[in-house]
Amino acid sequence: MQEITDPQEMRAWSRAERSAGRRIAFVPTMGYLHEGHLRLIDRAREGGDRVVASIFVNPLQFGPGEDFASYPRDLERDRAAASARGVNMLFVPAGGAVYPEEPRVRVAPGPMAERFEGATRPGHFAGVLTVVTKLFHLVEPDVAVFGRKDFQQAMLVRRLVADLNFPVVIDVAPTVRELDGLALSSRNVYLLGDERRAALALSRALRAVERAWRAGQADPDALTRVALDTLTVPGVVPDYVALVDQELRSVSRADAATVVLVAARVGRPRLIDNVVLGEGVARDPVAAAAR
Ligand code: PAJ
Repeated sequence: MQEITDPQEMRAWSRAERSAGRRIAFVPTMGYLHEGHLRLIDRAREGGDRVVASIFVNPLQFGPGEDFASYPRDLERDRAAASARGVNMLFVPAGGAVYPEEPRVRVAPGPMAERFEGATRPGHFAGVLTVVTKLFHLVEPDVAVFGRKDFQQAMLVRRLVADLNFPVVIDVAPTVRELDGLALSSRNVYLLGDERRAALALSRALRAVERAWRAGQADPDALTRVALDTLTVPGVVPDYVALVDQELRSVSRADAATVVLVAARVGRPRLIDNVVLGEGVARDPVAAAAR
């Protein structure tokens, strides 16, 4: 595995690879890699001849009271994991290289960013789409892989690429979970003591909704109540539950394509999870004992 920190070198490397006829598959991350990230790398290997992964904790997408300074970082471990999984190029730019000055122009994410994570975290998706735009311009990938775990983010990246004609294919990969159902997240390290067990309320709520839907309940309000009943346990503060379509619009009837979104605070971290009803939580890939 090679490593580049300089943005111009990154672009030069990509252009050389592409002019040699190789397809570049890209996995952007903020590091502290877990099996969820590594599965994206597996998919990237299938979709391209060269895999680029980036590690950059993007200050632009963190709000004033959020965890930018304390966001978990472990570059040594990330290097080893990325290399073992077949990454060809690790792009690890310094903050000052990505943002020599505070960017005045930002990508406006539009109405899909107004609800859910965007409502709780003002400016978050403008920060995400701005850095994704910059990374796409530096890496110039043929395909980029994102996780469905961050459903709203993945759908916004799809819109970014469609609306602004980016020449890149967006691949969205299923959520990777622990054996007990907890969706993997870098922020799970903040869960202390009993909070780890309390956090299972999110995936349990999604399963309860899926069961009720399979039993014939298609009314979004009734299904939302099912989720909230399961989420409302000691140590968990539900934020939102919503049933939406692929464009993040509320549905009037749940069907196989409906996505159930949940967010809750469990101790310090705010956790998010989701399920596509027709696919189910149970059939999502389960984290191997690989970590
Ligand atoms: P980060 O949280 O590091 O996530 C990087 C990618 O991994 C995202 O596409 C995310 O959806 C995916 N991912 C995280 N947990 C996952 C899981 N359990 N299963 C499958 N995929 C998972 O998301 C970001 O970074 C940033 O916003 C970024 C896109 C890099 C822009 O800064």
